[in-house]
Amino acid sequence: MTANDLRKKYLEFFRRNGHAVIRSAPLIPENDPTVLFTTAGMHPLVPYLLGEKHPQGVRLTDCQKCMRTGDIDEVGDPVHLTFFEMLGNWSLGDYFKKESIAWSFEFLTSKECLGLDLDRLAFTVFAGDEDAPFDEEAFQQWRLHGVPEERIAKLPKKDNWWGPAGETGPCGPDTEIFYWTGPLPAPRVFEPSDKRWVEIWNNVFMQYFKNAEGKFEPLKQKNVDTGMGVERVTAVLQGKSSCYDTELFAPLFRRLDEIRGLAEAPAERVRSERVVVEHIRASVFLLADGVQPGNVDQAYVLRRLIRRAIREGRKLGIKELFTARMAEVVIDQYGEVYPELPAGRENILESLNREEHQFAEALERGTREFEKLLSRVPAHIQNKVLSGKNAFHLYETYGFPIELTVEMAKEAGFTVDMKGYQEAYEKHQALSRQGAEQKFKGGLADHSEATAQLHTATHLLHKALRLVLGDHVAQKGSNITAERLRFDFSHPDKMTPEQLAKVEQIVNEVIASDVPVICQEMAIEDARNSGAIGLFGDKYGERVKVYSIGDFSKEICGGPHASHSGELGHFRILKEESSSRGVRRIKAVLEK
Ligand code: ALA
Repeated sequence: MTANDLRKKYLEFFRRNGHAVIRSAPLIPENDPTVLFTTAGMHPLVPYLLGEKHPQGVRLTDCQKCMRTGDIDEVGDPVHLTFFEMLGNWSLGDYFKKESIAWSFEFLTSKECLGLDLDRLAFTVFAGDEDAPFDEEAFQQWRLHGVPEERIAKLPKKDNWWGPAGETGPCGPDTEIFYWTGPLPAPRVFEPSDKRWVEIWNNVFMQYFKNAEGKFEPLKQKNVDTGMGVERVTAVLQGKSSCYDTELFAPLFRRLDEIRGLAEAPAERVRSERVVVEHIRASVFLLADGVQPGNVDQAYVLRRLIRRAIREGRKLGIKELFTARMAEVVIDQYGEVYPELPAGRENILESLNREEHQFAEALERGTREFEKLLSRVPAHIQNKVLSGKNAFHLYETYGFPIELTVEMAKEAGFTVDMKGYQEAYEKHQALSRQGAEQKFKGGLADHSEATAQLHTATHLLHKALRLVLGDHVAQKGSNITAERLRFDFSHPDKMTPEQLAKVEQIVNEVIASDVPVICQEMAIEDARNSGAIGLFGDKYGERVKVYSIGDFSKEICGGPHASHSGELGHFRILKEESSSRGVRRIKAVLEK
Protein backbone atom coordinates (compact mmCIF):
# COMPACT_ATOMS: atom_id res chain seq x y z
CA MET A 1 0.00 0.00 0.00
CA THR A 2 1.33 3.40 -0.95
CA ALA A 3 1.10 6.55 1.16
CA ASN A 4 -1.50 7.85 -1.29
CA ASP A 5 -3.64 4.73 -0.78
CA LEU A 6 -3.26 5.04 2.98
CA ARG A 7 -4.35 8.70 2.98
CA LYS A 8 -7.33 7.99 0.74
CA LYS A 9 -8.47 4.94 2.68
CA TYR A 10 -8.19 6.68 6.00
CA LEU A 11 -10.08 9.82 5.03
CA GLU A 12 -12.70 7.82 3.15
CA PHE A 13 -13.25 5.47 6.11
CA PHE A 14 -13.86 8.31 8.52
CA ARG A 15 -15.94 10.24 6.00
CA ARG A 16 -18.19 7.17 5.72
CA ASN A 17 -18.48 7.27 9.48
CA GLY A 18 -19.82 10.80 9.61
CA HIS A 19 -16.59 12.82 9.71
CA ALA A 20 -16.07 15.96 7.65
CA VAL A 21 -12.76 15.88 5.76
CA ILE A 22 -10.99 19.17 6.51
CA ARG A 23 -7.91 20.64 4.81
CA SER A 24 -4.54 20.64 6.45
CA ALA A 25 -3.86 23.87 8.34
CA PRO A 26 -0.57 25.68 7.58
CA LEU A 27 2.66 24.62 9.28
CA ILE A 28 2.80 27.98 11.01
CA PRO A 29 0.22 28.15 13.80
CA GLU A 30 -2.26 30.90 13.07
CA ASN A 31 -3.41 31.86 16.53
CA ASP A 32 -1.31 29.90 18.95
CA PRO A 33 1.66 31.60 20.51
CA THR A 34 2.86 28.52 22.40
CA VAL A 35 4.77 26.78 19.60
CA LEU A 36 6.70 27.73 16.46
CA PHE A 37 5.23 25.04 14.26
CA THR A 38 2.17 22.90 13.93
CA THR A 39 3.42 19.76 15.64
CA ALA A 40 0.35 17.53 15.48
CA GLY A 41 -3.03 17.30 13.80
CA MET A 42 -4.78 18.47 16.95
CA HIS A 43 -2.81 21.65 17.15
CA PRO A 44 -4.89 23.82 14.79
CA LEU A 45 -8.02 22.37 16.41
CA VAL A 46 -7.27 23.48 19.97
CA PRO A 47 -10.00 26.17 20.10
CA TYR A 48 -12.56 23.55 19.05
CA LEU A 49 -11.25 21.03 21.54
CA LEU A 50 -11.88 23.71 24.15
CA GLY A 51 -15.48 24.18 23.11
CA GLU A 52 -15.61 26.59 20.20
CA LYS A 53 -18.02 25.41 17.50
CA HIS A 54 -16.30 24.07 14.37
CA PRO A 55 -18.11 25.13 11.21
CA GLN A 56 -17.84 21.61 9.78
CA GLY A 57 -19.33 19.82 12.75
CA VAL A 58 -18.31 17.64 15.66
CA ARG A 59 -16.59 14.83 13.74
CA LEU A 60 -13.54 15.78 11.70
CA THR A 61 -10.76 13.99 9.87
CA ASP A 62 -7.71 15.24 7.99
CA CYS A 63 -4.15 14.75 6.89
CA GLN A 64 -2.16 17.49 8.62
CA LYS A 65 1.31 18.78 7.72
CA CYS A 66 3.49 18.73 10.84
CA MET A 67 6.99 19.90 11.77
CA ARG A 68 8.95 18.72 14.78
CA THR A 69 12.39 20.23 14.94
CA GLY A 70 13.56 18.92 18.31
CA ASP A 71 15.49 16.10 16.65
CA ILE A 72 16.84 18.04 13.70
CA ASP A 73 20.39 16.86 14.40
CA GLU A 74 19.28 13.24 14.30
CA VAL A 75 17.95 13.56 10.77
CA GLY A 76 20.15 11.44 8.57
CA ASP A 77 19.61 8.22 10.46
CA PRO A 78 16.96 5.90 9.02
CA VAL A 79 14.11 7.01 11.30
CA HIS A 80 14.10 10.73 11.97
CA LEU A 81 12.16 13.33 10.05
CA THR A 82 11.42 17.00 10.71
CA PHE A 83 8.44 17.26 8.38
CA PHE A 84 5.79 14.58 8.35
CA GLU A 85 2.11 14.10 7.66
CA MET A 86 -0.34 13.04 10.31
CA LEU A 87 -3.67 11.42 9.64
CA GLY A 88 -6.21 12.04 12.36
CA ASN A 89 -9.83 11.87 13.34
CA TRP A 90 -11.54 13.99 15.98
CA SER A 91 -14.60 13.97 18.11
CA LEU A 92 -15.40 17.42 19.44
CA GLY A 93 -17.54 16.48 22.41
CA ASP A 94 -19.29 13.82 20.33
CA TYR A 95 -18.17 10.16 20.44
CA PHE A 96 -15.64 8.95 22.98
CA LYS A 97 -13.59 5.87 23.84
CA LYS A 98 -15.99 3.13 22.74
CA GLU A 99 -16.51 4.40 19.18
CA SER A 100 -12.96 5.62 18.76
CA ILE A 101 -11.53 2.24 19.64
CA ALA A 102 -14.13 0.39 17.56
CA TRP A 103 -13.29 2.45 14.46
CA SER A 104 -9.56 2.11 14.96
CA PHE A 105 -9.98 -1.62 15.29
CA GLU A 106 -12.13 -1.82 12.17
CA PHE A 107 -9.84 0.39 10.09
CA LEU A 108 -6.77 -1.63 11.02
CA THR A 109 -8.19 -5.12 10.69
CA SER A 110 -10.99 -5.06 8.11
CA LYS A 111 -10.11 -6.37 4.65
CA GLU A 112 -11.54 -3.24 2.95
CA CYS A 113 -9.18 -1.04 4.96
CA LEU A 114 -5.70 -2.04 6.11
CA GLY A 115 -6.50 -5.71 6.68
CA LEU A 116 -3.84 -6.14 9.35
CA ASP A 117 -3.63 -9.40 11.23
CA LEU A 118 -4.81 -8.95 14.83
CA ASP A 119 -2.05 -11.32 15.87
CA ARG A 120 0.51 -8.64 14.92
CA LEU A 121 -1.17 -5.85 16.92
CA ALA A 122 -0.63 -4.77 20.51
CA PHE A 123 -1.94 -1.90 22.60
CA THR A 124 -1.04 0.32 25.53
CA VAL A 125 -3.39 2.12 27.90
CA PHE A 126 -2.82 4.64 30.69
CA ALA A 127 -2.03 2.91 34.00
CA GLY A 128 -3.25 5.77 36.25
CA ASP A 129 -1.50 8.07 38.71
CA GLU A 130 -2.27 10.87 41.16
CA ASP A 131 -3.62 13.10 38.37
CA ALA A 132 -5.97 10.65 36.68
CA PRO A 133 -7.16 7.04 37.15
CA PHE A 134 -6.31 3.86 35.19
CA ASP A 135 -8.08 3.92 31.82
CA GLU A 136 -10.25 0.91 32.52
CA GLU A 137 -12.67 1.79 29.74
CA ALA A 138 -10.03 1.79 27.00
CA PHE A 139 -8.67 -1.48 28.35
CA GLN A 140 -12.13 -3.12 28.38
CA GLN A 141 -12.96 -1.86 24.89
CA TRP A 142 -9.87 -3.54 23.39
CA ARG A 143 -10.76 -6.71 25.28
CA LEU A 144 -14.29 -6.63 23.77
CA HIS A 145 -12.71 -6.70 20.32
CA GLY A 146 -10.92 -9.90 21.23
CA VAL A 147 -7.52 -8.49 22.18
CA PRO A 148 -5.86 -10.81 24.71
CA GLU A 149 -4.90 -9.26 28.03
CA GLU A 150 -1.21 -9.96 27.50
CA ARG A 151 -1.28 -7.75 24.42
CA ILE A 152 -2.48 -4.69 26.37
CA ALA A 153 0.25 -2.97 28.39
CA LYS A 154 -0.62 -0.49 31.14
CA LEU A 155 1.91 2.33 31.12
CA PRO A 156 2.47 5.57 33.06
CA LYS A 157 2.03 9.17 31.98
CA LYS A 158 5.43 9.30 30.35
CA ASP A 159 4.16 6.83 27.73
CA ASN A 160 0.39 7.05 27.69
CA TRP A 161 -0.55 10.66 28.02
CA TRP A 162 -0.69 13.27 25.33
CA GLY A 163 -0.55 17.01 25.43
CA PRO A 164 -0.76 19.76 25.93
CA ALA A 165 1.07 20.88 22.79
CA GLY A 166 2.29 23.97 24.66
CA GLU A 167 2.65 24.56 28.37
CA THR A 168 -1.08 24.66 28.99
CA GLY A 169 -3.99 23.22 27.05
CA PRO A 170 -6.15 20.19 26.46
CA CYS A 171 -4.64 16.78 27.16
CA GLY A 172 -5.51 13.33 28.39
CA PRO A 173 -4.72 9.62 28.57
CA ASP A 174 -4.11 7.85 25.31
CA THR A 175 -4.11 4.35 23.95
CA GLU A 176 -1.42 3.50 21.45
CA ILE A 177 -1.46 0.82 18.82
CA PHE A 178 1.67 -1.14 17.91
CA TYR A 179 2.47 -3.39 14.96
CA TRP A 180 4.91 -6.30 15.09
CA THR A 181 7.69 -5.91 12.52
CA GLY A 182 9.88 -8.85 13.58
CA PRO A 183 9.79 -12.49 12.45
CA LEU A 184 6.41 -14.22 12.64
CA PRO A 185 4.65 -15.31 14.67
CA ALA A 186 4.67 -12.26 16.92
CA PRO A 187 5.43 -12.94 20.61
CA ARG A 188 2.32 -13.85 22.61
CA VAL A 189 3.16 -11.33 25.33
CA PHE A 190 3.56 -7.68 24.33
CA GLU A 191 6.84 -6.21 25.56
CA PRO A 192 6.66 -2.47 24.76
CA SER A 193 10.43 -2.05 25.13
CA ASP A 194 11.04 -4.43 22.18
CA LYS A 195 11.69 -2.04 19.30
CA ARG A 196 10.26 -4.47 16.80
CA TRP A 197 6.83 -3.38 18.07
CA VAL A 198 6.36 -0.11 16.18
CA GLU A 199 3.76 2.45 17.21
CA ILE A 200 1.37 3.14 14.35
CA TRP A 201 -1.54 5.06 15.86
CA ASN A 202 -2.29 7.08 18.92
CA ASN A 203 -5.81 7.72 20.21
CA VAL A 204 -5.90 10.50 22.77
CA PHE A 205 -8.90 10.92 25.02
CA MET A 206 -8.87 14.59 25.83
CA GLN A 207 -10.71 14.90 29.08
CA TYR A 208 -8.45 17.35 30.92
CA PHE A 209 -7.09 20.86 30.65
CA LYS A 210 -3.62 21.43 32.08
CA ASN A 211 -3.62 24.91 33.58
CA ALA A 212 -0.72 27.28 34.17
CA GLU A 213 -0.23 25.83 37.65
CA GLY A 214 0.27 22.36 36.19
CA LYS A 215 -3.07 21.08 37.52
CA PHE A 216 -5.34 18.85 35.47
CA GLU A 217 -8.91 20.14 35.36
CA PRO A 218 -11.64 18.01 33.79
CA LEU A 219 -12.77 19.45 30.45
CA LYS A 220 -16.48 20.11 30.05
CA GLN A 221 -16.30 18.72 26.56
CA LYS A 222 -14.70 15.30 26.17
CA ASN A 223 -12.84 14.91 22.89
CA VAL A 224 -11.02 12.31 20.86
CA ASP A 225 -7.79 13.21 19.04
CA THR A 226 -5.99 10.56 17.06
CA GLY A 227 -2.76 10.64 15.11
CA MET A 228 -1.20 8.26 12.60
CA GLY A 229 2.12 9.22 11.03
CA VAL A 230 1.87 8.67 7.28
CA GLU A 231 5.57 8.08 6.59
CA ARG A 232 6.07 5.61 9.38
CA VAL A 233 2.90 3.63 8.76
CA THR A 234 3.58 3.48 5.02
CA ALA A 235 6.98 1.95 5.77
CA VAL A 236 5.58 -0.52 8.26
CA LEU A 237 2.81 -1.63 5.91
CA GLN A 238 5.37 -2.19 3.17
CA GLY A 239 7.58 -4.22 5.47
CA LYS A 240 10.34 -1.58 5.26
CA SER A 241 12.38 -0.69 8.27
CA SER A 242 12.85 2.93 7.19
CA CYS A 243 10.47 5.49 5.71
CA TYR A 244 13.37 6.55 3.48
CA ASP A 245 12.94 3.21 1.70
CA THR A 246 9.37 3.97 0.59
CA GLU A 247 8.03 5.57 -2.59
CA LEU A 248 7.72 8.84 -0.64
CA PHE A 249 11.45 9.40 -0.92
CA ALA A 250 12.35 7.31 -3.98
CA PRO A 251 11.82 10.06 -6.59
CA LEU A 252 13.86 12.47 -4.47
CA PHE A 253 16.76 10.05 -4.26
CA ARG A 254 16.51 9.47 -8.01
CA ARG A 255 16.76 13.19 -8.69
CA LEU A 256 19.72 13.41 -6.35
CA ASP A 257 21.45 10.59 -8.25
CA GLU A 258 20.77 12.44 -11.49
CA ILE A 259 22.26 15.66 -10.14
CA ARG A 260 25.32 13.76 -9.00
CA GLY A 261 25.61 12.15 -12.41
CA LEU A 262 25.38 8.62 -11.02
CA ALA A 263 24.56 6.07 -13.66
CA GLU A 264 22.78 3.88 -11.16
CA ALA A 265 21.46 4.16 -7.63
CA PRO A 266 23.92 3.31 -4.85
CA ALA A 267 23.24 -0.02 -3.16
CA GLU A 268 22.60 1.75 0.11
CA ARG A 269 21.71 5.33 0.95
CA VAL A 270 24.01 7.23 3.28
CA ARG A 271 23.41 9.90 5.89
CA SER A 272 24.18 12.87 3.63
CA GLU A 273 21.66 11.68 1.06
CA ARG A 274 18.94 11.32 3.65
CA VAL A 275 19.65 14.78 5.07
CA VAL A 276 19.39 16.32 1.61
CA VAL A 277 16.07 14.74 0.69
CA GLU A 278 14.51 15.23 4.10
CA HIS A 279 15.54 18.82 4.54
CA ILE A 280 14.56 19.85 1.02
CA ARG A 281 11.16 18.25 1.43
CA ALA A 282 10.63 20.10 4.74
CA SER A 283 11.91 23.37 3.26
CA VAL A 284 9.50 23.19 0.34
CA PHE A 285 6.55 22.83 2.69
CA LEU A 286 7.74 25.73 4.85
CA LEU A 287 8.30 27.96 1.84
CA ALA A 288 4.84 27.06 0.53
CA ASP A 289 3.40 28.26 3.83
CA GLY A 290 5.06 31.62 3.46
CA VAL A 291 8.27 31.23 5.52
CA GLN A 292 11.41 32.80 4.04
CA PRO A 293 14.94 31.95 5.19
CA GLY A 294 16.12 34.34 7.90
CA ASN A 295 17.72 34.64 11.30
CA VAL A 296 14.90 34.25 13.80
CA ASP A 297 12.02 31.96 14.57
CA GLN A 298 10.69 29.77 11.77
CA ALA A 299 12.84 31.62 9.25
CA TYR A 300 15.93 30.50 11.10
CA VAL A 301 14.83 26.89 11.14
CA LEU A 302 14.22 27.07 7.39
CA ARG A 303 17.63 28.59 6.78
CA ARG A 304 19.21 25.89 8.85
CA LEU A 305 17.43 23.16 6.90
CA ILE A 306 18.47 24.59 3.54
CA ARG A 307 22.09 25.18 4.54
CA ARG A 308 22.40 21.78 6.07
CA ALA A 309 21.09 20.24 2.86
CA ILE A 310 23.58 22.27 0.80
CA ARG A 311 26.48 21.32 2.96
CA GLU A 312 25.60 17.63 2.76
CA GLY A 313 25.18 18.10 -0.98
CA ARG A 314 28.76 19.41 -1.14
CA LYS A 315 29.92 16.34 0.72
CA LEU A 316 28.24 14.24 -1.95
CA GLY A 317 30.30 16.08 -4.54
CA ILE A 318 27.61 18.43 -5.86
CA LYS A 319 29.15 21.71 -6.97
CA GLU A 320 26.31 23.48 -8.77
CA LEU A 321 22.98 24.86 -7.52
CA PHE A 322 20.77 21.88 -6.84
CA THR A 323 18.15 22.57 -4.17
CA ALA A 324 15.55 23.97 -6.59
CA ARG A 325 15.92 20.93 -8.82
CA MET A 326 15.25 18.73 -5.82
CA ALA A 327 12.30 20.91 -4.82
CA GLU A 328 10.62 20.41 -8.21
CA VAL A 329 10.26 16.75 -7.38
CA VAL A 330 8.61 17.52 -4.04
CA ILE A 331 6.17 19.93 -5.67
CA ASP A 332 5.19 17.43 -8.35
CA GLN A 333 4.89 14.59 -5.90
CA TYR A 334 2.72 16.36 -3.33
CA GLY A 335 0.96 18.90 -5.54
CA GLU A 336 -2.33 17.07 -5.69
CA VAL A 337 -2.73 16.69 -1.94
CA TYR A 338 -1.27 20.11 -1.07
CA PRO A 339 -2.22 22.62 -3.79
CA GLU A 340 -0.23 25.36 -2.04
CA LEU A 341 2.92 23.70 -3.38
CA PRO A 342 2.24 24.10 -7.11
CA ALA A 343 0.60 27.47 -6.37
CA GLY A 344 3.84 28.63 -4.75
CA ARG A 345 6.19 26.92 -7.22
CA GLU A 346 7.88 30.03 -8.52
CA ASN A 347 8.44 31.52 -5.11
CA ILE A 348 9.70 28.23 -3.67
CA LEU A 349 12.25 27.69 -6.43
CA GLU A 350 13.37 31.29 -6.42
CA SER A 351 13.81 31.42 -2.66
CA LEU A 352 15.85 28.23 -2.69
CA ASN A 353 18.04 29.50 -5.50
CA ARG A 354 18.60 32.79 -3.74
CA GLU A 355 19.45 31.17 -0.40
CA GLU A 356 21.70 28.63 -2.04
CA HIS A 357 23.46 31.26 -4.05
CA GLN A 358 24.02 33.39 -0.97
CA PHE A 359 25.26 30.50 1.07
CA ALA A 360 27.52 29.19 -1.68
CA GLU A 361 29.23 32.58 -1.76
CA ALA A 362 29.39 32.74 2.01
CA LEU A 363 30.82 29.24 2.02
CA GLU A 364 33.62 30.42 -0.23
CA ARG A 365 34.32 33.68 1.62
CA GLY A 366 33.94 31.93 4.96
CA THR A 367 36.45 29.30 3.95
CA ARG A 368 38.98 32.05 3.20
CA GLU A 369 38.22 33.69 6.55
CA PHE A 370 38.54 30.33 8.25
CA GLU A 371 41.97 29.79 6.72
CA LYS A 372 43.02 33.24 7.81
CA LEU A 373 41.94 32.53 11.38
CA LEU A 374 43.90 29.28 11.43
CA SER A 375 47.01 30.86 9.94
CA ARG A 376 47.24 33.20 12.93
CA VAL A 377 48.04 30.27 15.17
CA PRO A 378 51.80 29.64 15.13
CA ALA A 379 52.73 26.37 13.47
CA HIS A 380 54.75 25.04 16.40
CA ILE A 381 51.80 25.09 18.88
CA GLN A 382 50.79 21.54 19.71
CA ASN A 383 47.14 21.73 20.75
CA LYS A 384 45.70 24.03 18.19
CA VAL A 385 42.29 25.39 19.14
CA LEU A 386 39.89 27.58 17.20
CA SER A 387 38.22 29.84 19.78
CA GLY A 388 34.48 29.67 20.41
CA LYS A 389 34.20 33.32 19.50
CA ASN A 390 35.76 32.71 16.10
CA ALA A 391 33.63 29.62 15.48
CA PHE A 392 30.57 31.71 16.25
CA HIS A 393 31.82 34.49 14.00
CA LEU A 394 31.99 31.96 11.15
CA TYR A 395 28.50 30.85 11.95
CA GLU A 396 27.01 34.28 12.26
CA THR A 397 28.77 36.06 9.45
CA TYR A 398 29.13 33.27 6.92
CA GLY A 399 26.36 30.96 8.04
CA PHE A 400 28.80 28.14 8.77
CA PRO A 401 27.00 25.47 10.75
CA ILE A 402 29.21 24.57 13.69
CA GLU A 403 29.53 20.97 12.48
CA LEU A 404 31.08 22.29 9.30
CA THR A 405 33.58 24.38 11.25
CA VAL A 406 34.45 21.44 13.48
CA GLU A 407 34.94 19.22 10.49
CA MET A 408 37.08 21.69 8.60
CA ALA A 409 39.09 22.43 11.75
CA LYS A 410 39.72 18.75 12.27
CA GLU A 411 41.06 18.39 8.77
CA ALA A 412 43.54 21.15 9.59
CA GLY A 413 44.58 19.56 12.89
CA PHE A 414 42.52 21.91 15.09
CA THR A 415 39.86 21.43 17.69
CA VAL A 416 37.08 23.94 18.38
CA ASP A 417 36.35 25.44 21.79
CA MET A 418 32.79 24.18 21.90
CA LYS A 419 32.02 25.64 25.31
CA GLY A 420 32.96 29.11 24.13
CA TYR A 421 30.96 28.56 20.96
CA GLN A 422 27.96 27.44 22.98
CA GLU A 423 28.12 30.55 25.14
CA ALA A 424 28.27 32.85 22.15
CA TYR A 425 25.48 30.90 20.49
CA GLU A 426 23.20 31.03 23.52
CA LYS A 427 23.59 34.74 23.77
CA HIS A 428 22.52 35.00 20.16
CA GLN A 429 19.59 32.65 20.68
CA ALA A 430 18.32 34.73 23.60
CA LEU A 431 18.14 37.65 21.20
CA SER A 432 16.29 35.56 18.61
CA ARG A 433 13.96 34.46 21.30
CA GLN A 434 13.10 38.02 22.14
CA GLY A 435 12.27 38.58 18.50
CA ALA A 436 10.03 35.54 18.59
CA GLU A 437 8.27 36.68 21.70
CA GLN A 438 7.48 40.08 20.47
CA LYS A 439 6.06 38.62 17.34
CA PHE A 440 4.08 35.89 19.02
CA LYS A 441 2.83 37.95 21.89
CA GLY A 442 0.99 40.03 19.37
CA GLY A 443 1.71 43.50 18.50
CA LEU A 444 3.45 46.28 20.18
CA ALA A 445 2.89 48.96 17.58
CA ASP A 446 6.17 50.64 18.47
CA HIS A 447 8.70 50.97 21.26
CA SER A 448 7.66 54.46 22.38
CA GLU A 449 7.39 55.40 26.05
CA ALA A 450 3.60 55.44 25.93
CA THR A 451 3.48 51.99 24.32
CA ALA A 452 5.94 50.61 26.86
CA GLN A 453 3.78 51.95 29.68
CA LEU A 454 0.66 50.34 28.22
CA HIS A 455 2.66 47.14 27.87
CA THR A 456 3.45 47.24 31.59
CA ALA A 457 -0.23 47.96 32.26
CA THR A 458 -1.05 44.83 30.25
CA HIS A 459 1.04 42.71 32.60
CA LEU A 460 -0.73 44.28 35.58
CA LEU A 461 -4.09 43.63 33.96
CA HIS A 462 -3.18 40.00 33.25
CA LYS A 463 -2.25 39.40 36.87
CA ALA A 464 -5.26 41.29 38.26
CA LEU A 465 -7.58 39.21 36.05
CA ARG A 466 -6.04 36.04 37.43
CA LEU A 467 -6.58 37.31 40.98
CA VAL A 468 -10.19 38.31 40.38
CA LEU A 469 -11.36 35.57 37.98
CA GLY A 470 -8.98 32.70 38.68
CA ASP A 471 -5.89 31.02 37.32
CA HIS A 472 -7.61 29.75 34.20
CA VAL A 473 -7.07 33.22 32.78
CA ALA A 474 -4.33 32.99 30.18
CA GLN A 475 -3.23 35.45 27.54
CA LYS A 476 -4.65 34.71 24.11
CA GLY A 477 -3.37 37.76 22.32
CA SER A 478 -2.55 41.40 22.75
CA ASN A 479 -2.24 44.47 20.64
CA ILE A 480 -0.77 47.63 22.05
CA THR A 481 -0.45 51.07 20.50
CA ALA A 482 0.64 54.34 22.09
CA GLU A 483 -3.04 55.15 22.69
CA ARG A 484 -4.57 52.00 24.16
CA LEU A 485 -4.10 48.35 24.99
CA ARG A 486 -6.15 45.41 23.85
CA PHE A 487 -5.86 42.13 25.71
CA ASP A 488 -7.51 38.80 24.89
CA PHE A 489 -7.69 36.15 27.57
CA SER A 490 -9.38 32.85 28.27
CA HIS A 491 -12.49 33.16 30.42
CA PRO A 492 -15.86 31.59 29.72
CA ASP A 493 -18.26 34.33 30.90
CA LYS A 494 -18.94 38.00 30.49
CA MET A 495 -17.31 39.87 33.36
CA THR A 496 -19.61 41.59 35.83
CA PRO A 497 -19.31 45.34 36.53
CA GLU A 498 -18.07 44.44 40.03
CA GLN A 499 -15.28 42.24 38.63
CA LEU A 500 -14.25 44.97 36.21
CA ALA A 501 -14.18 47.55 38.98
CA LYS A 502 -12.11 45.23 41.15
CA VAL A 503 -9.58 44.64 38.36
CA GLU A 504 -9.24 48.37 37.76
CA GLN A 505 -8.82 48.99 41.46
CA ILE A 506 -6.05 46.37 41.82
CA VAL A 507 -4.14 47.71 38.82
CA ASN A 508 -4.41 51.28 40.08
CA GLU A 509 -3.19 50.24 43.53
CA VAL A 510 -0.04 48.73 42.07
CA ILE A 511 0.48 51.87 40.00
CA ALA A 512 0.04 54.03 43.11
CA SER A 513 2.59 51.98 45.05
CA ASP A 514 5.18 52.95 42.41
CA VAL A 515 7.14 49.70 42.37
CA PRO A 516 10.11 49.13 40.04
CA VAL A 517 9.89 47.08 36.87
CA ILE A 518 12.86 44.73 36.77
CA CYS A 519 14.12 42.65 33.88
CA GLN A 520 16.21 39.54 34.53
CA GLU A 521 17.63 37.15 32.00
CA MET A 522 17.54 33.51 33.00
CA ALA A 523 17.33 29.95 31.77
CA ILE A 524 13.83 28.95 30.78
CA GLU A 525 13.82 26.29 33.52
CA ASP A 526 14.59 28.88 36.17
CA ALA A 527 11.91 31.15 34.80
CA ARG A 528 9.40 28.36 35.09
CA ASN A 529 10.51 27.45 38.60
CA SER A 530 10.32 31.06 39.70
CA GLY A 531 6.60 31.01 38.91
CA ALA A 532 6.81 33.34 35.93
CA ILE A 533 3.84 33.10 33.59
CA GLY A 534 4.17 33.32 29.85
CA LEU A 535 5.30 31.24 26.94
CA PHE A 536 7.32 28.14 27.61
CA GLY A 537 6.75 26.16 24.46
CA ASP A 538 9.80 27.15 22.47
CA LYS A 539 12.76 24.82 22.37
CA TYR A 540 14.96 27.42 20.74
CA GLY A 541 15.07 29.95 23.54
CA GLU A 542 17.27 28.53 26.20
CA ARG A 543 17.49 31.90 27.94
CA VAL A 544 14.59 34.26 28.36
CA LYS A 545 13.85 37.66 29.85
CA VAL A 546 11.56 37.79 32.86
CA TYR A 547 9.89 41.09 33.76
CA SER A 548 8.81 41.56 37.40
CA ILE A 549 6.65 44.44 38.53
CA GLY A 550 7.40 44.74 42.26
CA ASP A 551 6.37 41.39 43.64
CA PHE A 552 2.98 41.67 42.01
CA SER A 553 3.61 40.19 38.56
CA LYS A 554 6.28 38.11 36.90
CA GLU A 555 6.09 37.30 33.21
CA ILE A 556 8.33 36.02 30.43
CA CYS A 557 8.40 38.79 27.89
CA GLY A 558 10.60 40.54 25.38
CA GLY A 559 9.80 44.04 26.64
CA PRO A 560 10.03 46.98 26.46
CA HIS A 561 8.44 48.23 29.67
CA ALA A 562 8.16 51.30 31.88
CA SER A 563 10.81 51.45 34.58
CA HIS A 564 8.39 52.13 37.48
CA SER A 565 4.70 51.40 37.82
CA GLY A 566 4.19 54.97 39.08
CA GLU A 567 4.80 56.30 35.56
CA LEU A 568 1.63 54.74 34.27
CA GLY A 569 -1.08 57.24 35.32
CA HIS A 570 -4.66 56.11 35.87
CA PHE A 571 -5.71 52.78 34.39
CA ARG A 572 -9.23 52.67 32.95
CA ILE A 573 -11.06 49.82 31.22
CA LEU A 574 -13.07 51.08 28.26
CA LYS A 575 -14.72 47.88 27.18
CA GLU A 576 -15.02 44.17 27.96
CA GLU A 577 -16.45 42.02 25.20
CA SER A 578 -16.37 38.58 23.63
CA SER A 579 -13.46 37.92 21.26
CA SER A 580 -14.32 34.34 20.34
CA ARG A 581 -15.86 31.46 22.23
CA GLY A 582 -14.22 31.17 25.64
CA VAL A 583 -12.05 34.22 24.98
CA ARG A 584 -12.82 37.73 26.30
CA ARG A 585 -11.28 40.99 25.16
CA ILE A 586 -10.52 44.08 27.22
CA LYS A 587 -9.68 47.49 25.83
CA ALA A 588 -8.12 49.91 28.28
CA VAL A 589 -6.22 53.19 28.45
CA LEU A 590 -3.88 55.04 30.76
CA GLU A 591 -5.06 58.51 31.67
CA LYS A 592 -2.43 61.02 32.68
N1 ALA B 1 -2.06 14.31 19.17
C1 ALA B 1 -1.67 12.96 19.18
C2 ALA B 1 -0.28 12.72 18.63
O1 ALA B 1 0.27 13.62 18.05
C3 ALA B 1 -2.67 12.12 18.48
O2 ALA B 1 0.24 11.66 18.76
